[in-house]
Amino acid sequence: MFAIYNLLIFIHLLGLALGLGSSTVKLLLILRCHSNYDFFYIYLKVSKLITKLIVMGIILMTLSGIAFLIMGYPFKMLLIVKLILVGMIWVLGPIIDNVVEPKLEKLMPVQGQAFSPAFSKIHKQHLALEITATLLMYLITIIGVLL
Ligand code: HEM
Repeated sequence: MFAIYNLLIFIHLLGLALGLGSSTVKLLLILRCHSNYDFFYIYLKVSKLITKLIVMGIILMTLSGIAFLIMGYPFKMLLIVKLILVGMIWVLGPIIDNVVEPKLEKLMPVQGQAFSPAFSKIHKQHLALEITATLLMYLITIIGVLL
């Protein structure tokens, strides 16, 4: 039993390393895009790979977290708050990846051309959502440590 629990903690922390680490890298790249717009062309080439690592991390943490609960980890207020925040990540992530980023890519001007108002609006939304998602990941991590 002890060995399984340790394995679950390992999987949870592996998920954390992948999820939190990759979402931090993704946000730093996006901030770089906002100080140097040409970087957007590079960002859009690597963002899907980074997103895959974030999703893999969150899946590992969610599955190992559910296993903790199946093994009898007590439901307490802090855990419930944490699960609500994890639920928000599960909603926000697909919105960013499947709605906002495809729009950003579609509205991206040809290199050297001026930005359309629509592009300016979507990249501000994109930045705001990415900052929110990354802060949520850090908040969940802090709550996880306090459990
Ligand atoms: C973004 C998602 C998540 C993050 C960042 C996260 C983060 C963490 C962290 C940092 C810990 C502390 C690990 C330690 O003390 O060694 C932890 C523990 C825990 N997490 Fe998560 N977690 C996430 C998702 C979940 C989910 C979805 C569940 C439940 C379905 C869950 C249930 C737990 C439980 C029960 C513990 C306590 C394990 C123990 O100390 O014995 N977590 N989490």
